[in-house]
Amino acid sequence: MLPLHAKRIVLGVTGSIACYKAADLASKLTQLGAEVDVILTAAAEHFIKPLTFQSVTGRRAYIDQDLWGPEGHVLHVKLGKDADLLLIAPATANTLAKLAAGQADNLLTLTALAATAPLMLAPAMDGGMFDHPATQASLETLRAHGAQVHGPVSGHLASGLSGVGRMLEPAELAGHARVALSAGGPLAGRRVLVTAGGTQEPIDPVRVIANRSSGKQGYALAQAALDLGAQVTLVSGPTALIAPVGAHLLRVQTAVEMRDAVLALAAAADMLLMAAAVADFRPSQAADKKIKRAEGVPTVELAANPDILKEVSQQAQKPRVLVGFAAESNDLLANAQGKLASKGLDMIVANDVSAQDAGFEVDTNRVILLSKDGGQEELPLLSKYEVARKVLEKAASLLK
Ligand code: PMT
Repeated sequence: MLPLHAKRIVLGVTGSIACYKAADLASKLTQLGAEVDVILTAAAEHFIKPLTFQSVTGRRAYIDQDLWGPEGHVLHVKLGKDADLLLIAPATANTLAKLAAGQADNLLTLTALAATAPLMLAPAMDGGMFDHPATQASLETLRAHGAQVHGPVSGHLASGLSGVGRMLEPAELAGHARVALSAGGPLAGRRVLVTAGGTQEPIDPVRVIANRSSGKQGYALAQAALDLGAQVTLVSGPTALIAPVGAHLLRVQTAVEMRDAVLALAAAADMLLMAAAVADFRPSQAADKKIKRAEGVPTVELAANPDILKEVSQQAQKPRVLVGFAAESNDLLANAQGKLASKGLDMIVANDVSAQDAGFEVDTNRVILLSKDGGQEELPLLSKYEVARKVLEKAASLLK
C-alpha cells in the first residue's frame, strides 16, 4: 500500500514563480498515493494552468470561477471538510496576510476558513517581502493558530537577488506532508532506533575497510517507521542518501562510533532495528600517515569490533523489541537462526545477498522474517520500502 493511500490533500497554489515547483509537489504527493485537490488563486493562474495540475493528479484542479459553478456556493466547505491536510505551496505574502486576518475573498482562502485539517504553509517571495514586519506578523499569527511553516530557504531569488525567500524543495515539502499525515499512526508515541549503511574502519588517513551496504534498506526502515507515526532516530554509516524528513540523523563512521551512538540511545527506544552492515573487524592500529607504496606491501593486523546487537540485548534497560538483519551468502536460514539466538533478538530478517536483485545496493530485496517464537514468513521480491513496512508491521505487533 502506498504511504499516503486514501489521504486527501488540498494543495493551495498562489501567485509566485515557485508555482512551477508546485506541479512537481502535486505529482510527488499523488505518486505517494494521496488524492490531491489543487486550488489555484487568480494570480497563480498567470504562472501556471489548472491543466498542468490535472495532468499530474488525475483530478480536477479548481480556480476562483468554480466558486460560482454548478456546485453552488458550497464547494469550499466540501473541499475544506474532506481534507486531511491543507498545504499552501507556494504561499505568497498576500495570501499569508489574508489567512492571518481570516479574510476569505477567493476559493482558497474560503476553503482555508472552512477546513478543520492541519494547515501547512510554504512561503515563497522576495527576501525583502519576507523580512517585512507585516509578513513576519502574519506568520506569527498563523503559527499561533497552529499552522506549520516550512521554509523559505536562502538562495537565488527570481528578482536576481540572493536571500531568504525560496520555497522549500518539493521533495522536502512532501516529506513534511508525510510526517503530518502519519500523526496518530500505530507507532505514535513510540521511539524507533534504526541503523543503516556500512561502517568504515580506517587503515590510514585515506584508506578504509568498507563494505557494499548503500544504506537503502535502513533508510527505508526509517521512512516506514515515520509513516507509522514513530519518532525515529537514524544512526547511519557514510552514505550519499538523504535522510527521510522527520528522522533525527546521527552520522557515524566506524563500528565503535555506531556502538557508542546505539548504546546511548537504546535505553530510551522502544524498538531497535539494525540494518547496518557493521564491520566485524577493524585494523588494530590505524596509521596516522598515508602508507606509502614505496615502503612495500603492508601487513594490516585486525582486531574484533564489538557486537552491537549482543551488547544491547545484554543491557538491563533495552528496547522492548530487538530486530537484526542477517546478510548471508549461504545457509541462509541456519545462519540467521543462529544469530537470532546468539544475539538475543526478538526477530531477524534473513537476507540472501547472493541474488542480483536482493541485498546490497539494489532497490529491491527478498527476505524471510524469523521470530524468536519460531515464526517464519517468507516475503516475495519487494521494494526495500515494502520490505521495511512488513518488518515494521511485524515488529509493531511484537510491541503489543
Ligand atoms: O544497505 P543496503 O545496500 O540497502 O543493503 C542492505 C543490507 C544487505 C546491508 C541489509 O539488508 C542487511 O542484511 N543488513 C545486515 C548486514 C550484516 O552486517 O549482517 P550480519 O549477518 O553481519 O550481522 C547480523 C546482525 O548483527 C545485523 O543486524 C548487524 O547490524 C548486527 N551486527 C553485526 C556486526 C556487529 N559487529 N555488530 C552488530 O550489531
